[in-house]
Amino acid sequence: MSSNDRVIIFDTTLRDGEQSPGASMTGEEKLRIAKALERLRVDVIEAGFAIASPGDFAAVKAIADAIKDSTVCSLSRALDGDIDRAAEALKGANSGRIHTFIATSPIHMQHKLRMQPDQVVEQAVHAVKRARNLCSDVEFSCEDAGRSEIDFLCRIIEAAIDAGARTINIPDTVGYAIPHQYAEMIRQLLERVPNADKAVFSVHCHNDLGLAVANSLAAVVAGARQVECTINGLGERAGNAALEEIVMAIKTRADLLGVHTRIDTPHILSTSRMVSGITGFPVQPNKAIVGANAFAHESGIHQDGVLKHRETYEIMSAESVGWNANKMVMGKHSGRAAFRARLEELGIVLAGEGELNAAFARFKDLADKKHEIFDEDLQALVSDSLSAEAPEHVKLLSLEVASKTGEVPQAKLVLSVDGAERSACAQGSGPVDAIFKAIESIACSQANLQLYSVNAITQGTDSQGEVTVRLEKDGRIVNGNGADTDILVASAKAYINALNLMQDGQKAHPQVADV
Ligand code: KIV
Ligand code: ZN
Repeated sequence: MSSNDRVIIFDTTLRDGEQSPGASMTGEEKLRIAKALERLRVDVIEAGFAIASPGDFAAVKAIADAIKDSTVCSLSRALDGDIDRAAEALKGANSGRIHTFIATSPIHMQHKLRMQPDQVVEQAVHAVKRARNLCSDVEFSCEDAGRSEIDFLCRIIEAAIDAGARTINIPDTVGYAIPHQYAEMIRQLLERVPNADKAVFSVHCHNDLGLAVANSLAAVVAGARQVECTINGLGERAGNAALEEIVMAIKTRADLLGVHTRIDTPHILSTSRMVSGITGFPVQPNKAIVGANAFAHESGIHQDGVLKHRETYEIMSAESVGWNANKMVMGKHSGRAAFRARLEELGIVLAGEGELNAAFARFKDLADKKHEIFDEDLQALVSDSLSAEAPEHVKLLSLEVASKTGEVPQAKLVLSVDGAERSACAQGSGPVDAIFKAIESIACSQANLQLYSVNAITQGTDSQGEVTVRLEKDGRIVNGNGADTDILVASAKAYINALNLMQDGQKAHPQVADV
């Protein structure tokens, strides 16, 4: 295949994905996901929006410093301050990209930007030139391109390429496009923009009508050679195009599409699980590629067919995306070296001996309670041990819960709050309610509980429960996670983790902030 047959996979889980209400991630979690994306061989990782907050800046910088094999990108509006901040965060990158954008649709230019089309072109050109002075790899996006006029798109894209943009992104920001119409738009832009051959055309589709993947693939057929997508289709509102679906459609239907990606597909499932665990967004069982039922055959006719010849009912193998790889990895006799090696195979590299020792100590505790330890257990355990290492105002010291038929459940707990021991006792409609009330009687956070979810990490009743608690206060939303074989302990840990995350600073949203 020639280089023109390669589709660049641009992952924006850490930026657009994080814009899903409630999907915020800590810097350490973002770094862990970035390492998993590098292992998956994603071409470009959009690590964040550097100007949004000091935390976002630090996360983009940490990812730029650590990632060697993927390009690391920061989003910036077409504003000097944004571009300079993005360049600053990307300084240490092996390969960095500044992604700058401005809205191009009549509705956005008139009502959001309150600018004339000429001013928008001028600002776009200025932004791309400024970015090119700071970074050799610049992407320009026409926000709301899906509802923009084709003549205006041709004009602004030609100017952006002349100014130095090497990737031109045509986002369907509001998920309005229909596959044949969106493909026609890409075809026309490639034909009509005189310098189109000097840039890679990219697509970025939202899923409001459930068409993000279909639109992206139609655009690839029309000549787009970069697809922007997210793991599990995470993203604003109904989400973005799902990376796993785009990649597997390209791989499975190479006969028809005639293109390829460089994604190492057996790492898809573990990356999906990592993102789901960290964000607390469960993957629906019937989700293509990564849902629990994606390769499960229930009907007798199908089972019979698959047993006789797999391809009767399967268009791709479960192994090719990482299913059936969660072999029993270790038990209580496994040593530190084996533990470290397995984590490395899972793409988890702990910083220094301190983190490794803490995670290994938790592994030994878990191995005492649980006979077989699977990859999913290790991922949850590392997540849990890293959040315990982070500076914590509130820590769980002990928990006692009483729950008996016919009696009101009661929780007694002891917390450490900024080093001081505090105890509380509360009753609730159930044991979890009692625990949360007891914690709140000490923390007095006045946050609203938006989500409480428990997921069994592996099969069997000895599985660890992974709990997500989503809290909201004054419009700020955080997700706390906790894992334990005792789901009441996991629930307390998750609530406390959310309280600790609440202490972080506010951040700006790229698409609501004024230009
Ligand atoms: O949806 C969108 O338009 C975006 C841009 C910032 C690329 O996310
Ligand atoms: Zn978007």
